[in-house]
Amino acid sequence: MNNRQIILKSRPVGIPQPEHFELKASDVPALKGGEFLVENHYLSVDPAQRGYVNDENNYAPPVAIGAVMRAMAVGQVIASKSADFHEGDYLYGWFGWQTFCIATKANVLRRVDPAQAPLSTGAGLLGINGLTAYLALHDIGQPRPGETVLVTAAAGAVGSIVGQLARQAGCRPVAVVGSDEKGRQCMADYGYDAFINYRQPLESALAKVCPQGVNVFFDNTGGEIADAVIRHMAWFGRVIQCGTMSIASWVPNPTGLRNDREILTRRLRVEGFVIFDHLQRLDETASKLAGMLSAGTLRYAEDIGSDIATAPQALVDVYSGRNTGKKLIRLR
Ligand SMILES: NC(=O)c1ccc[n+]([C@@H]2O[C@H](COP(=O)([O-])OP(=O)(O)OC[C@H]3O[C@@H](n4cnc5c(N)ncnc54)[C@H](OP(=O)(O)O)[C@@H]3O)[C@@H](O)[C@H]2O)c1
Repeated sequence: MNNRQIILKSRPVGIPQPEHFELKASDVPALKGGEFLVENHYLSVDPAQRGYVNDENNYAPPVAIGAVMRAMAVGQVIASKSADFHEGDYLYGWFGWQTFCIATKANVLRRVDPAQAPLSTGAGLLGINGLTAYLALHDIGQPRPGETVLVTAAAGAVGSIVGQLARQAGCRPVAVVGSDEKGRQCMADYGYDAFINYRQPLESALAKVCPQGVNVFFDNTGGEIADAVIRHMAWFGRVIQCGTMSIASWVPNPTGLRNDREILTRRLRVEGFVIFDHLQRLDETASKLAGMLSAGTLRYAEDIGSDIATAPQALVDVYSGRNTGKKLIRLR
């Protein structure tokens, strides 16, 4: 059986580019005891993959040169020597940017039920994106009715869900996005009350759109956008550090404005969130989101490519804001 794999060819500094990868064909080896063969249906393209290949500020060892690119995917078991996973099972897990993955139990994040929601959502809305939106907003943000919840990268896979959940919590969600078109989409589809285009002067826009200050800041970008938002936080506001899209490289470590005094005088709580600390809650949270989806109270958008060879460029596109919704590569 022939496998097609995206291999890491050289180590990037900053955002990985297509030239750091190559597409290779190889044979799928025979299964050993405890292993099963997954045929990938949807490959996930995630901003976090930049961290998987860089040496900088990593919390896990980077992908080795010559190895398959680390990625989450939704796939189906097509052969098995495992007591836990059987032919026909649909799974979400660490299956890599490749057509087939020889996996063990350690690769699996959760089982996917195609009767619960479309299969692709297993890698987006019901994968780390929706789950991060739900858990980080509620656990760290603790949104209360009437509060202003400001979200950066608001039109994306995580941000589009945060807006809707914040609205359901009785809050006033404000989107920060890179274009007016995305801003209008946030208001029309994702529950946002207003938007700010970060390509315009931010300070005056924040003062105008959030006159009472921001109570919950769901930050997916960091950098200068976050610097500006922190100066507009309401007292006792909560800052969820979920992502750092706007930091192009950690080498050299970026320095800039210090917001220490704002955190002090505004009595802010700043907390980082990493979904992989919450794996035991994935099933329960995915069921909640799937319930909202079938009740018609949640929308999601996907931006789906169809050629595995385009996966590296798709990651560049996510870092340029060219994606509209969850970026996936469909293989089947
Ligand atoms: N902590 C966790 O456990 C966890 C889990 C999942 C995701 N995340 C984080 O959540 C964030 C969103 O991830 P996602 O998968 O949902 O991606 P996404 O929002 O679908 O796509 C990323 C978006 O970021 C925006 N962006 C890109 N470069 C930017 C820049 N320089 N300044 C400001 N915005 C920029 C772009 O939108 P515009 O066109 O609006 O600029 C782009 O569409 C990422 O930071 C990711 O790392 C964290």
